Amino acid sequence: MPQLEEQSASSVQDFLPLNGTDYVEFYVGNAKQAAHFYRSALGMKLTAYRGPETGVRGEASYLLEQNKIRFVLTTPLTPDHPISAHLLKHGDGVHDVALWVDDAEAAYRETTQRGATGVRPPETLRDEQGEVRISAIATYGETIHSFVERKNYRGVFLPGFVAVDKPDTVSRPVGLKHIDHMVGNVGWNQMNRWVDFYRDVMGFRLFKHFDDKDISTEYSALMSKVMSNGNERVKFPINEPAEGKRKSQIEEYLEYYQGPGVQHIAMATDDIIDTVGRLQNQGIEFLRVPHTYYENLLKRVGPIDEPLAKLDELGILVDRDDEGYMLQIFTKPVEDRPTLFFEVIQRKGSRSFGKGNFKALFEAIEREQELRGNL
Ligand code: FE2
Repeated sequence: MPQLEEQSASSVQDFLPLNGTDYVEFYVGNAKQAAHFYRSALGMKLTAYRGPETGVRGEASYLLEQNKIRFVLTTPLTPDHPISAHLLKHGDGVHDVALWVDDAEAAYRETTQRGATGVRPPETLRDEQGEVRISAIATYGETIHSFVERKNYRGVFLPGFVAVDKPDTVSRPVGLKHIDHMVGNVGWNQMNRWVDFYRDVMGFRLFKHFDDKDISTEYSALMSKVMSNGNERVKFPINEPAEGKRKSQIEEYLEYYQGPGVQHIAMATDDIIDTVGRLQNQGIEFLRVPHTYYENLLKRVGPIDEPLAKLDELGILVDRDDEGYMLQIFTKPVEDRPTLFFEVIQRKGSRSFGKGNFKALFEAIEREQELRGNL
């Protein structure tokens, strides 16, 4: 098949218009405790709840928000609940990357006609605040994309969720604004299959392409293609492992998650020094590159607004392309299985993904892999 070229927005017909990410739903073993971590450490605010007390049997869900970012943490209450099997296999992880649409019915029809597997035919959820239309399709692994149409809804989130009105005294906000991109890890030789899926079934285009020469260290490698929707509000890089002397971080993920799934969620801030300082004070652990990284940083990226010493102290990485520069940092995995982690990113013109940092970063990841006995 012909090599997919990186494309500009205008060349794509948008049969699946997206307003942005709606929410990300995680299946977790203990949502009450996980919610505390996301509030006190990551700065999310508890805004709504759904569970036995609100008339839903069998599961409990917490809605957490920070600016435009919405996470839902859901836990099953019984071993025979379908989510329990998901948890047993994958551990805590992302189940649903939900997308905000104007027409959930059309989104379902257009994508399933193009080959998507439907997992939730369009349905209407109602309460006294109005109605939400929702549908969903399957993507890699057991991950799904819900399509959420909320133009006729005035409630806090979805029908069934009850707003939490009292102030969240546990939440310590850190200035995270919106989701910048969400990355999926897929198996050997599966990257192009999922790139084709996002192109053919969801109307995305290739935004950036990195091969194993871009992303390799002495020991391991991976390949990555970034897919974007038409208006660039939704970007999904897809990674697959590549052959190296030792085990790729993607293979480690696939073993512990028992298959493909969401690897990391990048969240944007307008002040990465402030955000990362707060996150570190609140107990979030970040990957650390050696201090030597900063010795020739300015030679590589040119002048930047931020004080170098502060970036070094916090471990923040910088990269530049022809449009500007960006700053980024990665957390360690946020669960005991080395699966999901987060990225904090601040863009100053650049729309890229930090290619110049890959080597230093992956060497830092390998040091962690080594400690876990998985390199
Ligand atoms: Fe990223």
